[in-house]
Amino acid sequence: MKTVHLCMVVFVIGFMGCGKSFWARRWGQAYRMPVHDMDEIIETEEGATCMEIFENRGEQYFREKETRLLRQLGTMAGDRIISCGGGTPVYKDNMQWMNEHGLTVFLSATPEQLLQNLLQDKAIHRPLIKNVQPNELLFHIHKKLNERLPVYRQAKLIFNAPEITVEDFENCLSHA
Ligand code: S3P
Repeated sequence: MKTVHLCMVVFVIGFMGCGKSFWARRWGQAYRMPVHDMDEIIETEEGATCMEIFENRGEQYFREKETRLLRQLGTMAGDRIISCGGGTPVYKDNMQWMNEHGLTVFLSATPEQLLQNLLQDKAIHRPLIKNVQPNELLFHIHKKLNERLPVYRQAKLIFNAPEITVEDFENCLSHA
C-alpha cells in the first residue's frame, strides 16, 4: 500500500465502456484515496437510474445536475478520485473547469474496444445507446467518440485503456 502526501483531485474521463469506474476504484484502493463515482451519486440522489433520469427528466436536467455535482466534488477538501460520466467533460466548460481544479486523466480506447466492453457490460442500460440497433452500435460509438475526442484530448494525462495497470497511477501522483 502506498500513501499519498500531496493534496490532489484526479478526474477520470473517457467514453462509456472505457473503464473509468473500474480504474478509479482500483486506484483508490491501491493508493488509499476516496473515490466518487458521479453516475452512482446521481442515481442515489435521484433514486433513479441514469436511464430513468434521461427518460423522465430529460438530458438537460441530467447535465445540469452532473455539472453541479462536478463542482461540488471537485472543490471538496482532501485527496480524491472522481470517476466522471462519459459526457461530463463535453458539457459547458466542464473540461476547462476540471483542468483548472485538478488532474484530468483520459482513458483512451478504440471504438472496437469500447463496443466489446459495452456488449459485455450493461450497454442496454445506457440511455445514449439504448435505442441503437446492435449492428449500428459500432458506427454510433465511432461518431460520438469522434465528436468528443477534441475535448477528451485536452486531458493532462492520456492512458491507453487496455494497457492500464494499477502502477500507472504513480504517473498521476507525479503530475500532482
Ligand atoms: C453518458 C455516460 C454515462 C452516464 C450517462 C451519459 C454519456 O456514464 O453519465 O448515461 O453521455 O456518455 P458512463 O460513461 O459511466 O457510462
